[in-house]
Amino acid sequence: MRRCQAAMTAGPDHPDHSMLLKGPRGSGKTVLLAAMRDVAEQNGLLTVRVTAKPEPTFVDALIEQITSAYDTESRRMSSAQVSVLGSGAGVSFQTPEVRELSVHTRMLAAVEGLADHARRKARGALITIDEFHNANIAALRDFAHALQDIAKIDGKPVMFVGAGLPSMEETALADPGMTFFQRIARTQLDPLSLEESVEALQAPINAAGGTIDDDALATAAAATSGYPFMVQLVGYHSWEHCSGPSNGITSGDVQAAVDAAITDMEAQVFTPVVRDLSDTDRMVLEAMSAFDTPDVQIADVSRVMGKTSNYLSVYFQRLSEAGVIHRPSRGRLRYVHATMRDWFRRQSIERGPMSEGVSSPETTTNVKERIIAASNADPNATHVAIASRVGANPDYVGRVRRALRASLESGVGE
Ligand SMILES: Nc1ncnc2c1ncn2[C@@H]1O[C@H](COP(=O)(O)OP(=O)(O)OP(=O)(O)O)[C@@H](O)[C@H]1O
Ligand SMILES: [Mg+2]
Repeated sequence: MRRCQAAMTAGPDHPDHSMLLKGPRGSGKTVLLAAMRDVAEQNGLLTVRVTAKPEPTFVDALIEQITSAYDTESRRMSSAQVSVLGSGAGVSFQTPEVRELSVHTRMLAAVEGLADHARRKARGALITIDEFHNANIAALRDFAHALQDIAKIDGKPVMFVGAGLPSMEETALADPGMTFFQRIARTQLDPLSLEESVEALQAPINAAGGTIDDDALATAAAATSGYPFMVQLVGYHSWEHCSGPSNGITSGDVQAAVDAAITDMEAQVFTPVVRDLSDTDRMVLEAMSAFDTPDVQIADVSRVMGKTSNYLSVYFQRLSEAGVIHRPSRGRLRYVHATMRDWFRRQSIERGPMSEGVSSPETTTNVKERIIAASNADPNATHVAIASRVGANPDYVGRVRRALRASLESGVGE
């Protein structure tokens, strides 16, 4: 919000005058765009709100929405057209030439019209595009060209903020024609701090005439892990559960609210998020669920999956960009939402015995020791034979045995 306001004050030369917000599902992107438009309107800017769509018709919707923000003339005309047509006269106000103009030209005219109108009648304009990752690429390309020409080159006051999932890097921004958007400022929505979560829960409760005791508030804030949608759920269920908000929301209310919020999270966040992932992404998350500690060793995940950590690194990267896992320290992974582990475990139990092998893995150290023992007992056995004996992946057996041999040859025991 601070950066957006600074750009609004400074004008088109400010680096944040065009900007992209990245954040996982439920991190507050839509709410933030709305807040930015509110501030813009308070500052006398015209605002245009667009939600991106993958269909080729998105380009027409985008042009229409930009145009109708300033072109009251064309709005009057289309309503005049309806009444004339209604009376049977069948007069069309659109000349054939207008329809034949290229999309590129129409987009340029729309953004330029907005800019010129904004300069004459307002203090500028702000266009927001939500679900940016989901936008039709050709439409974005035309929009990028127009925005670059008018805001960057001509210095006219059209601000732009796009918001979407981090996967925009692989969709919208991966296109070679998207250099303009690739170069503009980007910002990632981080989780709320504990203090921010406390404030986000307490302020609306108090504003609505309720109270919450300190312990209950601390429990509620901790349960959100700083995830805005969880703040919303825990706050909502606490309010609904208590006997009367003015009597105070208790720890008991919060406890029940957290359980209800977790159930909502599973249905409304985990299910859709996981549905959008690739099979291997999903397998990584499942493999992580087999371990009890909050942090899971990358080495353990790769062993359970029978893939090298090098091979898996691209999946770790993707899952962390999707806001599902993070890497608290080198060589470790953690779920962003801790309750995801229970959810995966319950699912694997529901699926039945097929996934039993994954449900109680040993630590890497144990398996390594068994490989070493089996290898010492039968030094001439192949990697594959040892692998099937100890229940590990042959590549992994090979790596352990090579490391073992190297340490024996150098005469340095482990
Ligand atoms: N700063 C915040 N403090 C507290 N709650 C917030 C905050 N920002 C958003 N929320 C709440 O979190 C929920 C999700 O917000 P929002 O819909 O903006 O997320 P989003 O990032 O647009 O999600 P999606 O990717 O699914 O569209 C909403 O219920 C909203 O009220
Ligand atoms: Mg949204």
